[in-house]
Amino acid sequence: MSRFKNTIAVITGAGSGIGEMAATRLANEGAKLILVSRTASKLERVADKINESLKEQAAAIFPADVTNESDVNELGQFVRREYGDLHVLVNNAGESGQSSILELGSEEWDQIQKTNTKSVFLVSKTLGKLMAEASDTESRDRSIVNVASLSGHKAGAKIPHYSASKAAVINFTKALAAELAQYGIRSNSVSPGFVETPLTEEGLKNQKVEEAIKRNTALGRVGRPEEIANIIAFIASSEASYMTGSDVLVDGGWLIT
Ligand SMILES: NC(=O)c1ccc[n+]([C@@H]2O[C@H](COP(=O)([O-])OP(=O)(O)OC[C@H]3O[C@@H](n4cnc5c(N)ncnc54)[C@H](OP(=O)(O)O)[C@@H]3O)[C@@H](O)[C@H]2O)c1
Repeated sequence: MSRFKNTIAVITGAGSGIGEMAATRLANEGAKLILVSRTASKLERVADKINESLKEQAAAIFPADVTNESDVNELGQFVRREYGDLHVLVNNAGESGQSSILELGSEEWDQIQKTNTKSVFLVSKTLGKLMAEASDTESRDRSIVNVASLSGHKAGAKIPHYSASKAAVINFTKALAAELAQYGIRSNSVSPGFVETPLTEEGLKNQKVEEAIKRNTALGRVGRPEEIANIIAFIASSEASYMTGSDVLVDGGWLIT
C-alpha cells in the first residue's frame, strides 16, 4: 500500500510506543515525516531505523517540548521552511500519573493537563494554520489525528487527571473538526485501551494488573502499539475522507465487558 505518497506528516511523541509505530507505518506507505518529542536520542533511533529500512531520508527529527509555545512556533517555522506544506498531523505525545483525587496535588494535575491537552491545542493551532493556508494552493484531503484514551470515555482508577485530560482531547477534536472542515482538514481522535508501551511498562510488571486487564478485556489481552498505529494510519489516510469529528475506540472490548 502507498496511501501516503506525496504526504508530509508530523507525529508528536514519536520516540517510542504508539508514536514510533505510527511513524513506521506512515513511512512504509510513502510519507515524509517530521518526528517530534523532547528526547533527541529517541527520535534519532526511530528516524535511523525508518531511513535505513527504506534506504531514503523519509524521516527527519525536530526535538521540542509540545507544551512550550515557543518550541511549537519553531516547529511550525521549521515545517513551513523545509516542507512548505503539511497534510497529516498526529498529536500523540502524552503522559500519565497515578493518584487518588483526595491525594492529588494541583501541580501534578496541571502537568497532566499541559502535556495531554494544552499541547494538542498549541500544535493543532500552529500547524493547523499552515495546513489551512496550504489548502488555498492545493485542495486535498488533510487530517489531524489526536490520540485520546479509553480513560476519556470511562474514568480509570487513580488516574483522574489523565482521564479528564483525555475526555478533553476527545471533545477538543470535535471543535477542531467543526472549525477546520472549511479547509478540507478532518479531525478525529483514537482512544486506545491498554497497550504495551513504555507508558504502561511499570504497571504491566504487576501480575495483578495484567490479569485484571485480561479479565476485563473481551479479547483477553493487552494491545500492541502497531494495532493502534493501524487505526491512526487509516484515519489519517484519504480512505477515511468522509470521517471527521469522530472518536474511534480501540480497546479490545474493554467497554463492552
Ligand atoms: N499505552 C497505553 O496503554 C495508552 C492507552 C491510551 C492512550 N495512550 C496514549 O497514547 C499516546 C502515546 O503513548 P505511549 O503509550 O506510546 O507512551 P510512550 O511510549 O511513553 O510515548 C509518549 C511519547 O510522548 C512524548 N512526550 C511526552 N511529553 C512530551 C512533551 N512535553 N513534548 C513532546 N513530547 C512529549 C515522549 O517523548 P519524550 O519523553 O522524549 O518527550 C514519548 O515519545 C499518549 O498520548 C498516551 O496517553 C496510551
